[in-house]
Amino acid sequence: MALWSGRFEQGVSEFTQEFGASLEDDKSMYAQDITASIAHARMLAKQGIISQEDESKIVDGLQKIKGEMDAGTFEWDVNDEDIHMAVEGRLIKDVGAAGARLHTGRSRNDQVATDIRLLAKDMLAELAQENCKLRATLIKAAEKNFDVVMPGYTHMQHAQPVLFSHHLLAYYWMFARDFKRIVDAYDDADANPLGSAALAGTTYPLDRFYTTELLGFDHPIQNSMDAVSDRDYLLDLLYACSVSMMHLSRLCEEIITWSTTEFGFITLSDAYSTGSSIMPQKKNPDFAELTRGKSGRVVGNLVALLVTMKGLPLAYNKDLQECKRGAMDSAKTLRDCMVCMEGMIDTWEVHKDKMLAEAKLGFTAATDVADYLAKRGMPFRQAHEVVGELVLYCEKHHKGLEDLTIDEFRAASDLFDEDVAKDLDPAGIARARNTYGGTGHDAVRQQLEEARDGLREDEAAAASL
Ligand code: ARG
Repeated sequence: MALWSGRFEQGVSEFTQEFGASLEDDKSMYAQDITASIAHARMLAKQGIISQEDESKIVDGLQKIKGEMDAGTFEWDVNDEDIHMAVEGRLIKDVGAAGARLHTGRSRNDQVATDIRLLAKDMLAELAQENCKLRATLIKAAEKNFDVVMPGYTHMQHAQPVLFSHHLLAYYWMFARDFKRIVDAYDDADANPLGSAALAGTTYPLDRFYTTELLGFDHPIQNSMDAVSDRDYLLDLLYACSVSMMHLSRLCEEIITWSTTEFGFITLSDAYSTGSSIMPQKKNPDFAELTRGKSGRVVGNLVALLVTMKGLPLAYNKDLQECKRGAMDSAKTLRDCMVCMEGMIDTWEVHKDKMLAEAKLGFTAATDVADYLAKRGMPFRQAHEVVGELVLYCEKHHKGLEDLTIDEFRAASDLFDEDVAKDLDPAGIARARNTYGGTGHDAVRQQLEEARDGLREDEAAAASL
């Protein structure tokens, strides 16, 4: 019989028992559940609500249960609805009346809210650390490929030459923003619902500030009804995961494109590729594709919880039981995808000659040629027109701008001189864009320094979560 069976004349059916249970999801937070119970027992004893003798029996009993769960030897009972029932039921079996006093001034409603917050904090701390590792990987790749030149794109058309390091660092900043979102979600989760009981608080003289301290929360939640029904911190977690997966997915899309025969910018290592069961030549970027695919599920988890929450009146409703699985799934998925991305980047081979060769195609120097005229006094709008016509001329004669003779340039404008040649070289073009945040060598060097400083700060912050 369930621990709540007193007012019932018959038990639930086998089907509804299983339908209503959250034990499978809850198994991932047994450690948090036991930690919270130990804090509750210590507080009850400090407040004189239970004896010290009961406190030690409870704490020893809970530690024994945790030992078995750690070791995988705990005998789970399928009739237990959730982790709270499983732990308490077994505790009562082991230590009798002392165990039966643990639930004084407590409800599963504040219990589950406490467990999930502890779990969310653990998951977010891990994500923060992995996020730093990923950013370190991007910095390393940018340093290694510092002056590799590639075509920069807009509308997927060749636009202007850029440094590959600059391109990679653009992702660094996306993940740096993700770090902030992860820490914000952590801060939101860092509040203690324990002691709110079912919804209204309790008549026992509980010391909520003491359990807050024991459990390492920042503060006790101010309103007991909000405390048992709030899952905003999980929405924050799910949003942080969704945005970060979206960033990973964009990078995967590039990795997949760069590995095509048409692009040939990179080759993924064998360790991050798979073959085909029929086509012997195939080497597929499966893990980049899988990461891109998983981003869909992670976004789905966010939407699912938003929809679950939107119809809930105060305070606890069983619907809330649905909040755990998606959060755990998204956190694990993001973590695994970050690890995978680190491996892909660390081991890929970069074909810098192919990147440079492509950077020359598609008239990527056109803006610089227009700037050349503008710097000699021609209004930019007019220079744009002149170079546009030159591009049309080149297309008709199957030439690149770099193939034009000085006479052909002069026919377009007599402001052109021999020195226009230096504005046609993609490496030179990329090197020269040194506005703050630009792709020039000096600008990217400065950017790298700022990225390294930011990462150092975030690594320290992640270690302190
Ligand atoms: N298994 C429940 C959950 O995960 C725990 C709280 C249940 N409370 C209740 N009154 N039924 O949300």
